Amino acid sequence: MDTDYKQQIIDKTIQFVRQKLEGEGSGHDWWHVYRVYKNALNIVASEEADEFIVSLGALLHDIADFKFHGGDTEVGPRVAREWLESLSIDENTIKQVEHIVRNVSFKGAKVKSPMETIEGKIVQDADRLDAIGAIGIARTFAYGGYKERVIYNPDIKPELHETFERYKNNESHSINHFYEKLLLLKDLMNTETGKKIAEERHKFMELYLQQFYDEWDGGK
Ligand code: NI
Repeated sequence: MDTDYKQQIIDKTIQFVRQKLEGEGSGHDWWHVYRVYKNALNIVASEEADEFIVSLGALLHDIADFKFHGGDTEVGPRVAREWLESLSIDENTIKQVEHIVRNVSFKGAKVKSPMETIEGKIVQDADRLDAIGAIGIARTFAYGGYKERVIYNPDIKPELHETFERYKNNESHSINHFYEKLLLLKDLMNTETGKKIAEERHKFMELYLQQFYDEWDGGK
C-alpha cells in the first residue's frame, strides 16, 4: 500500500466513524475519537511503530463501546473488521486493528488489559490521556450524567474493582471515578511520551479535586 492509498483509507475511516458517533452524548462522541487520534499521532512520532495501524486503531477504538452494548466486548472488534473488510484491507492489518479495539478499554483497577503490540500500546496511551486532565474531568461528569449518577456523595467510598463485571456494573458517583480509574492511569502508561503528558494532566486533576473538596465544605 502506498502512502496516498493509506491516507485515502484513513480519510474514509474518519468519515465512517464521524457519522457513526456524531452527537453521542456520554463523552464517547466523535470528538473523543478525534482527540485520541491526535494523541496517538503525537506519541507515534517518537516510537518505532506502524503509523497506519496506529491511525486505524485510534479511529476505530470506540466504534462500538461495550458500555453501550450491554457489556458485549466483541461488538467493537466485529464492527472494525467488517468496516476494514469492506475496504479490502489485508488480513494481517485487520487482525492487528482488531487486537487494539478488543483490548484498549480500561476494565477495572485490578484487571489487566494486555496490549501485545507497540501500536496497541500507543492507542491505549492515547485513549487514556483523553480520560485524564481537563478533558477527562469533563468527560467524567458527562458520563455520570448519562448514567444518572450524582456528582459526589462523601458517604460512598471508592472501590478498586477486582473484576471487569464489578467495574462495569458499578453504581457509584462521579468523584469516585477519579479514584477507581483516572488517578491510576498515569502509572499504567506504556510509552515515555504518554507518561510525560500524563504527569501534567494528573497534577491538574489533583489540583481540581482539592478545590472541589474545599468548595464542598464551604471554603474558598
Ligand atoms: Ni475511547
